Amino acid sequence: TKDGKRIYSISQFINDLRLSSNVLIITGAGISTSLGIPDFRSIQGLYNQLSHLHLNDPQLVFDINEFTKRPETFYSVAHLILPPEDKFSLLHAFIRMLQDKKQLLRNYTQNIDNLEYYAGIDPSKLIQCHGSFGTASCLTCRSRFAGPKIFNHIKQKQIPRCSSCWKNTQEAAISYGVIKPDITFFGEDLPKKFYKSIVNDSKKCDLVLVVGTSLKVEPVASIIDNIPRRIPRVLINKDPLPDRDFDLTLLGYSDAIASLICSKMGPEWSIPHHQFEQDLTS
Ligand code: OAD
Repeated sequence: TKDGKRIYSISQFINDLRLSSNVLIITGAGISTSLGIPDFRSIQGLYNQLSHLHLNDPQLVFDINEFTKRPETFYSVAHLILPPEDKFSLLHAFIRMLQDKKQLLRNYTQNIDNLEYYAGIDPSKLIQCHGSFGTASCLTCRSRFAGPKIFNHIKQKQIPRCSSCWKNTQEAAISYGVIKPDITFFGEDLPKKFYKSIVNDSKKCDLVLVVGTSLKVEPVASIIDNIPRRIPRVLINKDPLPDRDFDLTLLGYSDAIASLICSKMGPEWSIPHHQFEQDLTS
């Protein structure tokens, strides 16, 4: 075009998807909203449900300094985003299909719901950039637990504590023996796996899909800026991201768009319906 932007149509995208052997897919909270888990920054998102906490910034619920001083801030609202233990969305099933067809280079997810696990995404194909509810650790002795072990505490808005540390806590600091889900809080570093993979993946990918994220949180927000511009990049999102540069933006619900993509790809891309909870309207 006159402004130097290439024209990239849906049919070119479908063609590239057919030929691609190294899809890099960056996902965010929007791919799980159809399962009833709120995202963060939409009108109905988590950050708009926290006014009763009177925080200067709602992101403080995921702030490591706040957590060590007042773990109850996180635990009073964590139940609102507690993931289901056996469900995944059509979009998750779509990522699984890319994996089964040996076309998935990596899924960089910002999601902490660990639903990629239930969708069968291989750990070697998955970078949980912000950790997940899948495991939890004691802040004091670093013992690690299966995440669901503290789900009942979360449902009851209680602070879970490590039984071996708890014995000695009478006059100890407030955070002594507190168990925290292995979510990367603001102020904590991302998992090493992220930094290990991203440099090579940025060079190796041949198609980039960004799905269900506002791209507001670094360093994930900048992944696409470090991928050569000739690599096609496609956004699938409910809301546009006008400040970001994509070759193609498919606006709508991610499950509905994944379904549309699969129908254009042909019968061998049909996703069995029993695999996921489908609600294409949310
Ligand atoms: P956001 O809430 O910032 O953005 C979610 C995006 O998904 C929005 O742009 C919505 O328009 C879009 N969306 C919602 N439902 C959708 C649907 N059904 N189909 C398609 N798009 C949909 O969430 P993230 O970008 O994931 O950090 O947020 C990034 C990080 O910020 C999170 O990982 C979280 C938060 O602080 C931690 O949990 C540590």
